[in-house]
Amino acid sequence: MTDFTPEEIDALYKVMAARRDMRHFSNEPLPPELLERLLAAAHLAPSVGLMQPWRFIRVRDRRLRERIHALVDEERSRTAAALGEREEEFMRLKVEGILDCGELLVAALAPDRDKHVFGRRTMPEMDLASVACAIQNRWLAARAEGVGMGWVSLFEPEALRELLRMPAGAKPVAVLCLGRVPEFYPRPMLEMTQWRRGCTLESLVHTDYWGGGDGADSPPVEDSPAGSAESPTASAERRSD
Ligand SMILES: Cc1cc2nc3c(=O)[nH]c(=O)nc-3n(C[C@H](O)[C@H](O)[C@H](O)COP(=O)(O)O)c2cc1C
Repeated sequence: MTDFTPEEIDALYKVMAARRDMRHFSNEPLPPELLERLLAAAHLAPSVGLMQPWRFIRVRDRRLRERIHALVDEERSRTAAALGEREEEFMRLKVEGILDCGELLVAALAPDRDKHVFGRRTMPEMDLASVACAIQNRWLAARAEGVGMGWVSLFEPEALRELLRMPAGAKPVAVLCLGRVPEFYPRPMLEMTQWRRGCTLESLVHTDYWGGGDGADSPPVEDSPAGSAESPTASAERRSD
């Protein structure tokens, strides 16, 4: 028994399959009530020990946005250099839409997280997992509302923390570009640009023991050419009821 109609259930899966990481935006502001809903969607997320470690900064100052963009661009060059032979190819990828998106938010981990022990004693990184749940909620809500979102993690956290005057112990984890888009990519952009192909679900699921069942555990490495693997979108679309 479910609380939802078959149409509502289908809509949820449809949104998941259609969600994309967006880097192209039409520079249009979002209505304030829509932004409120997207903020609220993130706050509905689960969190370890109910610690709700997410904090969000809405960046409204254009100059500040440009400085965040500059930080990301610096890290983009460093990432390219670290990639060795794929450096030039990486530099041709579009990896953010910071200057063009309608709204810019920065998601951060709250300070003073060490006092939260429940669920974190052996895995303190569960605070980060909780923030990721909040960001994913926002991503899905945005897609349902026809709003694109891009998650940017190319930055030096300490530099961004200082720039945004976050207290010691807080840690920025994502620059989130939100806004109207010309169109949603039909597939992950990294697949469309042949940077990397997604794995099939079957290759990542094991039975009983690691390596048991059909799981081949052979995800493509970063320098594999994109090829014929089924896209995550396609496998989600194949879901049977
Ligand atoms: C934790 C995290 C960090 C990411 N950081 C970046 C980033 O810095 N730049 C970027 O272009 N995409 C970034 N992405 C987006 C991924 O590249 C994208 O999710 C992936 O290629 C699959 O595409 P899809 O989201 O459209 O399905 C990030 C995604 C996640 C989950």
